Amino acid sequence: MKVAFVGKGGSGKTTLSSLFIRHLAADGAATVAIDADINQHLGVALGMTETSAAAIPAMGERLPEIKDYLRGSNPRISSAASMVKTTPPGRGSRLLRLGGEDPIHGSLTAHVDGARLMATGPFTDEDLGVACYHSKTGAVELYLNHLVDEPGEYVVVDCTAGAESFASGLFTRFDLTFLVAEPTRKGVSVYRQWTDYAADYDVALAVIGNKVHGPDDVAFLREHVGDALLACVSQSAAVRAMEQGRPFALDDLDATDRAVLARMRAAVDSREKDWPKFARQAVHFHLKNAASWANAATGHTLEAQVDPNFVLGPPTRVAAR
Ligand SMILES: Nc1ncnc2c1ncn2[C@@H]1O[C@H](COP(=O)(O)OP(=O)(O)OP(=O)(O)O)[C@@H](O)[C@H]1O
Ligand SMILES: [Mg+2]
Repeated sequence: MKVAFVGKGGSGKTTLSSLFIRHLAADGAATVAIDADINQHLGVALGMTETSAAAIPAMGERLPEIKDYLRGSNPRISSAASMVKTTPPGRGSRLLRLGGEDPIHGSLTAHVDGARLMATGPFTDEDLGVACYHSKTGAVELYLNHLVDEPGEYVVVDCTAGAESFASGLFTRFDLTFLVAEPTRKGVSVYRQWTDYAADYDVALAVIGNKVHGPDDVAFLREHVGDALLACVSQSAAVRAMEQGRPFALDDLDATDRAVLARMRAAVDSREKDWPKFARQAVHFHLKNAASWANAATGHTLEAQVDPNFVLGPPTRVAAR
């Protein structure tokens, strides 16, 4: 299952991603975490030292190798240079299994607390939007587009704040997107921005209230986001202690916050995989990108990379074709 954490800067995306990842890993679920935020903090939030977190190879700097591996022997993709972040898989492409024995998982992940962590590497505002071809989050989009995950397996992406993911198809790549919102006007304004963008693409969104102090905060969130509010995490002394560098374990959380993590997993697990939609949207964004900048950037006619007879999904679905 593909899961994203989005929200306003400072709302708690990294904190809640890290708690959710720890929760999944503690349950023994196969979990890949991806730090796709401008400032890379997920490794440390998962308990790594700054030094070991900084030593994780940056996906964003390995784009040519990632592309070369994923394109495999796909005859429609003539070179890594002609592959852009939205190039969809086709016959001959290499598909990934979550945490599989492939060079991407093999060389780009670090093991942390039962999960595997990948990182885009730090980027700047200039890397967003404009430099589409070299986009660091493009590595994540390619990874997700080639990943054939099954229920009970999870990839959790800590996304950058704001609307960066709308610049491509990234925001449609997830089975469930958790929007982290503080109970403030600014906090809930991001929800409205998301519903505006996401409505056309049938994106599943669940709001997690964060740093919630009591019933008034819950009522405020409920008033502004309605039934999209899945659960609330309190302003937590355990999280604060973790932030202060003290040892942390999930059991340090209040029982109610701990229970939120289980509800979040249940919400993800209740999503049905829709591979045809996933593949259709990948093609949609690729065609859109080709027309708007990618044909010009690569000098190729990228529409020709779409393989109309390709069936994406787990082996059972592909065999059924
Ligand atoms: N439930 C919570 N209880 C207490 N403190 C929290 C909670 N959630 C987040 N924080 C604190 O709020 C601050 C911001 O959290 P975090 O870094 O997770 O946000 P973010 O959305 O990832 O921010 P950025 O946009 O900078 O990446 C941190 O100091 C974190 O420890
Ligand atoms: Mg963050």
